[in-house]
Amino acid sequence: MSLNWAILGAGNISGSFVHDLCLNNERNEKVKHIVKSIGSSSKSRGEEFIKKNKITTENNHGVTPQVQSYDELYANPDVDIIYIGTPHPLHKEQVTKGLNHGKHILCEKPFTLNAKDAQELIDLAKEKNLYLLEGVWTRFFPSIAKLKELIFEKKALGDINRLVMDFSFDADLANLPETSRIRSNELGGGALLDIGVYNLTYTRILLDNKLGKNATKFDLKSFQTIDPKDKVDFTSSMLVKYENGKQAVLTCSNHVPRPEPYLRLDGTKGYLEMFSENPACPKKFKVTFKDGNDPIEYEDTSGYKGFIYEANACFEDITNGRIESDVMPHDETMLVMNIMDDIRKESGLRYAPDDW
Ligand SMILES: NC(=O)c1ccc[n+]([C@@H]2O[C@H](COP(=O)([O-])OP(=O)(O)OC[C@H]3O[C@@H](n4cnc5c(N)ncnc54)[C@H](OP(=O)(O)O)[C@@H]3O)[C@@H](O)[C@H]2O)c1
Ligand SMILES: *[C@@H]1O[C@H](CO)[C@@H](O)[C@H](O)[C@H]1NC(C)=O
Ligand SMILES: *[C@@H]1O[C@H](CO)[C@@H](O)[C@H](O)[C@H]1NC(C)=O
Repeated sequence: MSLNWAILGAGNISGSFVHDLCLNNERNEKVKHIVKSIGSSSKSRGEEFIKKNKITTENNHGVTPQVQSYDELYANPDVDIIYIGTPHPLHKEQVTKGLNHGKHILCEKPFTLNAKDAQELIDLAKEKNLYLLEGVWTRFFPSIAKLKELIFEKKALGDINRLVMDFSFDADLANLPETSRIRSNELGGGALLDIGVYNLTYTRILLDNKLGKNATKFDLKSFQTIDPKDKVDFTSSMLVKYENGKQAVLTCSNHVPRPEPYLRLDGTKGYLEMFSENPACPKKFKVTFKDGNDPIEYEDTSGYKGFIYEANACFEDITNGRIESDVMPHDETMLVMNIMDDIRKESGLRYAPDDW
């Protein structure tokens, strides 16, 4: 009952991911998530990462992770699965190398810069018969399973009409260096791929219970405002209309703060509101009924940031010999990547690997 991890990229999000693995181990949960290796561009950053995120033998099943170069990490025979937490333009090469060394992969969202690159990685994973998952951690939270049951099985909200969501955060752009991954086109900067991907994710979760090729048909209209200097979108808006009439109004911006609740879903019998410090983690929701029945309130007080849910899914899938997740199958990654390609094509936002 254990999974041996390598963490590639000793940055922010990798730290949050490792936090959950260590907390899981500290609590002696039944699946052991052991961090075997930290891959970093520099030894000192890797050592610092271990200290800063407090990975100790006590919370890592007696193991002190090795600090390795990326190439050493790919070749490490003790590693089952690589978590990739680097900026999006690096994902393609890193996933490819990991798969070519026979490792399973969990790669942060957005999976790649465009759909063509995503398809190549999925094809390679299938060819190698290895597990590959885009880290759309939002889908794996227990709150989402509860909401899906309420909305699609119990139909507690009645017929759903509309979703309104804003995923913005004020990134203080004026004081952020041009080289930051949010501002730099070369690093895949802008709002759509970084945070707008979550609006799309919620639309896909809450307005449609089907995935990938089985998805309900929809139309999408979008606008992106592209910064003339940085050449990336700091504000994007999307309108979605499903063939069954359901609509979503989605906005994302690095210029403005976000409202609370960040999401509202309206049906004939009531409405859902979602609250969070970070809309990527669906930790708190409230359903209010029009007929005055008691509201349903939910809050995730587990203490986890929420990465443990996708990590446990990786364990379950790999142990059962599956090479893709049925919560976030490859087809669904492709569906969302294709939407983002279409939006960027319409507004003219290009990244280096785009061939259009
Ligand atoms: N799931 C989520 O909620 C969530 C939240 C935030 C970010 N993300 C995703 O996670 C990824 C990383 O985001 P982050 O905020 O963690 O980024 P970050 O801290 O800026 O970078 C992560 C690591 O990537 C490497 N790196 C950074 N800039 C680089 C550059 N210019 N060239 C080469 N390597 C570079 C570094 O690895 P070394 O340590 O090896 O030098 C760095 O430690 C992005 O794809 C982002 O979309 C997901
Ligand atoms: C997308 O969602 C984010 C929060 O997840 C929000 O800040 C942003 O405004 C949304 N974008 C659209 C176009 O709805
Ligand atoms: C689509 O539906 C078919 C038939 O129900 C099912 O076998 C398949 O797994 C579904 N695909 C996805 C991506 O959900």
